[in-house]
Amino acid sequence: MAADFVSIDTLADYEGRLVTLKGWLYNKRGSKGLYFLVLRDGSGLAQCVVSQQEVEEAAWQDADEATQESALEVTGLVVANERQVGGYEIQAETVRLLSKAEDYPITAKAHGVEFLMDRRHLWLRSRRQWAILRVRNRVIMSIHQFFQERGFIQMDAPILTENAVEGTSTLFEIDYFGQPAYLTQSGQLHGEAMAMAFGKIYTFGPTFRAEKSKTRRHLTEFWMIEPEMAFYDLAMDMDLAEAFIVHLIGDALRDCATELEVLGRDTAPLRRVQKPFPRMSYTEAVDLLRSDETVAMLDARLASLHEEQEQLAAEREENKKVYGQAKKWQKRKIDAREIEINQRLDEIQEALRNIPQWAASARRFEWGGDFGGSDETVLTWHFDRPLIVHRYPAAVKAFYMKRDPEDDRLALGMDVLAPEGYGEIIGGGERATDLAFLEKQVADHEMPPEAFEWYFDLRRYGSVPHSGFGLGLERTVTWICGIDHLREAIPFPRLLGRLSP
Ligand code: 4AD
Ligand code: MG
Repeated sequence: MAADFVSIDTLADYEGRLVTLKGWLYNKRGSKGLYFLVLRDGSGLAQCVVSQQEVEEAAWQDADEATQESALEVTGLVVANERQVGGYEIQAETVRLLSKAEDYPITAKAHGVEFLMDRRHLWLRSRRQWAILRVRNRVIMSIHQFFQERGFIQMDAPILTENAVEGTSTLFEIDYFGQPAYLTQSGQLHGEAMAMAFGKIYTFGPTFRAEKSKTRRHLTEFWMIEPEMAFYDLAMDMDLAEAFIVHLIGDALRDCATELEVLGRDTAPLRRVQKPFPRMSYTEAVDLLRSDETVAMLDARLASLHEEQEQLAAEREENKKVYGQAKKWQKRKIDAREIEINQRLDEIQEALRNIPQWAASARRFEWGGDFGGSDETVLTWHFDRPLIVHRYPAAVKAFYMKRDPEDDRLALGMDVLAPEGYGEIIGGGERATDLAFLEKQVADHEMPPEAFEWYFDLRRYGSVPHSGFGLGLERTVTWICGIDHLREAIPFPRLLGRLSP
């Protein structure tokens, strides 16, 4: 009987029918005359039950020989089984080993991050990466839907450029037929030109920053979404950013429930991401950072971390006591929990080391400086949803920002800081419209005016108020997934010291 070749995520449509699955062996258990093969095909996992009595000898041999990550083809009957991943399993009629895998380097035990990063091309097959990168896919789709439904036109900005956008310190220079050129840091300047032609546009492309620091928030190559809108002021810009984030989170919660569960993401904080987001000026944010309220909030955090640390240590002791008498399956569970506990204890220890330092630097923060990662983290801990900070000192923001008519020291820029300590995910604001001002800004920033002539034209021919912002895709995915480093939020991360695989 011919069986349809189907993907695992559609098994519900085939209950009681014969299907063929093609994939890789994710996990294998056996007992007398039975193999339980968990097959992975990219769309999901499915357990295939192979009984020596039910299949031909060759099929049984293939099941027997199959190693982790071997490629397999299994044909069998789809039956409901509540207790299995996905709710269905396959009663195999035939099994064919398509390609036997050598000893697979990534196993169930805990591997170091560098070990995994060196094997990123294989690590992508793991359950956690499956979940994260599927969330990324969903977010990308939501981004397009959000803007397309609102009449924005997607326009691609060039990647090879002759000018800096976000300052000259993080440019990757390349040789463009004997002329220096740069990998773009942002599509914004070209986005402004396109907004003057099309009204409301967004760019969505790779952007590059020669970031010489190793942090959990910086990639050297990342993807940015940059809407740019003619006739929008700063307040409209913030409203759009707010609606945008509410939309992205709502879609992820609705459509990525399985992925978030795989990641163990507590979705309660995401469900609180509703309008209105708190908004405060930079000056108010500085006051908050330096306040007694911040000291008290951080003290309370330290106390609750100490408490959690003690609880986990007690749980670990308890597990050790019962381990000796535990059944095999219970031992597997305890081992898995042990890995979790250790990871969490490491995180807690790191936080206990960091928070006192962060508290000290928040207390000392001086008006005029840019917020560091820890300052943003501390600010976000005061709120249960994203925080918008606006009107930064012009000196810490890019050359193109419009000045605040009420206070010339300030730029009409805004950042959106993601809650739970994640920090900046959006930077943007209202653009300067005055030609003479921009010419002076370019000169003051020691940038070559020739490279900005075309940009100045936008102010010569029908200059109008306009605004926009940039959302970092990987930072957003990192936050939604609740993971602690953005290197897992992109298939092949580029970082200081990492260009491979
Ligand atoms: O704040 P940034 O530098 O703003 C701009 O580039 C503006 N031209 C955007 C605009 O108004 N059109 O970057 C915007 C966002 C940040 O908020 C952050 O989410 C992300 O881009 N980002 C990075 N993500 C990963 N690695 C890096 N090195 C990043 N630098 C910025
Ligand atoms: Mg920024």
